[in-house]
Amino acid sequence: MPTAVTICGSIRKGSYNEILRRYVSGKLREAGVEVEDLDLGDYMMPIFNEDLEAEHTPAAAGELAQKFAAADIVLIVSPEYNSGITPLLANTIDWISRQKHGQFRHAVFGIGTVSSGKYGGVVGIQHLRDALSKLGALLAPALLGVGPAEDAFDALGVPTEPAIRKKVEQLVRELTHFSRGGI
Ligand SMILES: Cc1cc2nc3c(=O)[nH]c(=O)nc-3n(C[C@H](O)[C@H](O)[C@H](O)COP(=O)(O)O)c2cc1C
Repeated sequence: MPTAVTICGSIRKGSYNEILRRYVSGKLREAGVEVEDLDLGDYMMPIFNEDLEAEHTPAAAGELAQKFAAADIVLIVSPEYNSGITPLLANTIDWISRQKHGQFRHAVFGIGTVSSGKYGGVVGIQHLRDALSKLGALLAPALLGVGPAEDAFDALGVPTEPAIRKKVEQLVRELTHFSRGGI
């Protein structure tokens, strides 16, 4: 059975991206994947700088890197901030990228985003894709951009637009197809 870890780049209460993360996680489970949903609030790290790294690397960086290295699938769902990566996610990736566990070389990575704008965060996603590619990650091709956020989900957290539900199915198919765990 393939395994997945998922993270969300917003830890805001009521985060729309958290709603999307939960929905995609559920679909991965339905597809037979063993999923661990991680809360980045449990892995808070100081803003990266190389002096700090030399003095003391937070344990959370190594723990997250090991989880990425061991998983067949890594799902990252995050809003865009100012058309870029949120500081929480950027800082997390910076710390993880300095670890030596092969953390970006095993899993296939899937990305999703919800934003209040009508373009659904697809500009920010592109920066994230570039950064992960540069780190050697294999990326599922599906572009899962959802917006505007306020109308995007029903009360049960299901995407209201059929096209978005289809895109999630496509992403799950790609992730299970390309994961080394296989289905
Ligand atoms: C600092 C900041 C920058 C933002 N920049 C963008 C942006 O570039 N594009 C966009 O569509 N929404 C932007 N937003 C709005 C977010 O999409 C919106 O707050 C969204 O709900 C955040 O995701 P969350 O609900 O998961 O926390 C920004 C919000 C903040 C706080």
